Amino acid sequence: MGLSRLAPTRYPRWYMQRVYLDHAATTPVDERVIDAMLDVYRNHWGNPSSIYLEGQDAFRVLDAARQQCASLLGASEREIVFTSGGTESDNAAIRGAAFAQRDRGRGNHLVTTKVEHHAVLHAVEQLEREGFTASYLSVDSEGFVNLDELEAAIGPETTVVSVMTANNEVGAIQPIQDVVRIAKEKNPKVVVHTDAVQAAGVLDITPSVTGVDMLSIAAHKLYGPKGVGLLYIRRRTPWTPMIVGGSQERERRAGTENLAGIVGLAKAMELAWAEREERNEHARKLRDRLMFELPERVPDTVVTGPADPAQRLPNNMSCAFRNVEGESILLALDMGEIAASSGSACTTGSVEPSHVLTAMGIEPDLAHAALRLTVGKDNTGEQIDYVLETLPSIVSKLRSLAG
Ligand SMILES: Cc1ncc(COP(=O)(O)O)c(C=O)c1O
Repeated sequence: MGLSRLAPTRYPRWYMQRVYLDHAATTPVDERVIDAMLDVYRNHWGNPSSIYLEGQDAFRVLDAARQQCASLLGASEREIVFTSGGTESDNAAIRGAAFAQRDRGRGNHLVTTKVEHHAVLHAVEQLEREGFTASYLSVDSEGFVNLDELEAAIGPETTVVSVMTANNEVGAIQPIQDVVRIAKEKNPKVVVHTDAVQAAGVLDITPSVTGVDMLSIAAHKLYGPKGVGLLYIRRRTPWTPMIVGGSQERERRAGTENLAGIVGLAKAMELAWAEREERNEHARKLRDRLMFELPERVPDTVVTGPADPAQRLPNNMSCAFRNVEGESILLALDMGEIAASSGSACTTGSVEPSHVLTAMGIEPDLAHAALRLTVGKDNTGEQIDYVLETLPSIVSKLRSLAG
């Protein structure tokens, strides 16, 4: 059933009774990744910087993981910096390039979009407080970035452009190749970064194909461990490190490496790249059922994000139900053993409507009623049947309570 043949994960009993539909928030760790990590904890626990046998052994493991990640990205090992995850990669990319470019006298203007993850948005806002200037590009009602605005925003003072490959809330896939082309045509010195945290393992994110200079990945979105990720930095990209200390990662990210995590990331990427087509096809089948059958079963459902399923991540379904509180739906779903999200995990609990839906022009009342369902490789058709049966009665009950 599903892809379980490929992923022999020994889930706890409570999880087997759950329908987990929040894979954009995080994914369960693949058993094959756990095995690879346990091997590091048991057998390769040396410090990769030590010169004696244990250190050299650990260094060899680190080097192999780096080679693996580089080759999957069609990159050189020197272009890979391991980090603590998506947030650190995004921060390091943007701050690192912004300061390095300014030091070269190239300007202090940054360009990003209104629908980035807060790891990018807050990094840019922080730089504004530190004397940089920034433009935040609009998106259309489906969540696609406005390329005319991009072209108009880039000037001689622009140094960094950061546009995500795919959005975490509504799954909109951005035209990254066009972003790179327009940015470099307007100003060849611009450094282009993309947050590929949601896209990695799902889309072809090869930097030599898209043309980006920097790219962020987090392991926990692709069945790897939390707290580890990587930043790809194209050769000769102006960049300065954020975390300084020891000389690890060629002096680009100090600190003793999270070796087991890095090996877990490499394994998770290897599996995601190898199983990509199969996982996507599986996700698309389940997601399409949610996207097309839910609005038929629940009156007044508004699907948010791209209407064309091919233009959104294959695992993403996002919608809003008029006249219901999103948070109440989440609680009711949880009681029905279904895990879902109202948008991004980071904004759960916040009273503000999602900045992504707001940027798309969705009115606050509707944005408050948002639901995001993101399927994964271990979900089954039976689980989707269950969700399609359960959700309509939850929504109608909440609507009748609201009067
Ligand atoms: C698009 C995007 N960027 C960055 C992040 C942050 O990644 P991490 O949780 O690994 O710091 C996330 C996590 O939700 C994300 O979805």
